[in-house]
Amino acid sequence: MMDNEILDKYRRAGKILAEVRSAAVNRVKVGASLLEVAEFVENSIREQGGQPAFPCNISRNDEAAHATPSSNDKSLFGEDMVKLDIGVHVEGYIADTAVTVDLGDNPELVEASEVALKNAIQLIRAGVSTADIGAVIEESINEFGYKPVANLAGHGLDRYVQHAPPSIPNRRVEHGIILREGDVIAIEPFATNGAGHVSEGGITEIYRLEKLKSVRLPAARKLLEDIKEYKTLPFTKRWLPQTRLNFVLKQLEAMGVVCPYPVLKEDAGGLISQAEHTVIIESDGCQIITML
Ligand code: CO
Repeated sequence: MMDNEILDKYRRAGKILAEVRSAAVNRVKVGASLLEVAEFVENSIREQGGQPAFPCNISRNDEAAHATPSSNDKSLFGEDMVKLDIGVHVEGYIADTAVTVDLGDNPELVEASEVALKNAIQLIRAGVSTADIGAVIEESINEFGYKPVANLAGHGLDRYVQHAPPSIPNRRVEHGIILREGDVIAIEPFATNGAGHVSEGGITEIYRLEKLKSVRLPAARKLLEDIKEYKTLPFTKRWLPQTRLNFVLKQLEAMGVVCPYPVLKEDAGGLISQAEHTVIIESDGCQIITML
């Protein structure tokens, strides 16, 4: 069993997250600015005593994840299927949640990922295999006539590590991992009316420190100092000084110092919905920490 003080930090992160998420959802409207919503989310997290565990992801329509506005982004919401994926950490202990706001007219696609998440959570307790969770998620989404996104998965959470083992599949798999009491995991079904598979698109706004190396170029050394603030968590270009940023980031990427998170898009251009909560595994169930 995990230290109670640590679990309290996870719960604190989850509470901040639940509050920020519900305030953010009200700001996602046709004609509203994506950049304003992202900054509202990240600033609210800091005001409440947490830190963003990763940049506020605002992915629309056939984008599944890793989209976030650039520092001078002028995009406004249209009649989009909007996924807000938000993370908070308290001293490195992360809570992760996502919600779909449908500004178009596809309520059943939104419901499919929500029901899949609910059914998965009902099943979760110590001793359950991640394979059983994946099967329930796939069945639930199929019942709505949609597909899960097969190559996206939920994940464990560790201190300053957003994607830790075990992976929580969104589809039937042969071999799972048995969940243990005290594990902290994020479950995040994605449902689509497309092919059920995503690939990396052309745009990257989000990166993560991959490996610290000594860097000669002074500008790169300076940028690396700024990046180190985010430890091993994802950050975005928007959070960094903008001077020669693209040039220097490319160099760090080529050296393997940072790794990119390109926007992920549905292969057939299908719409994608997503629902996500973070839970702490208990002997007879689980505690959802990202719910008010
Ligand atoms: Co997640």
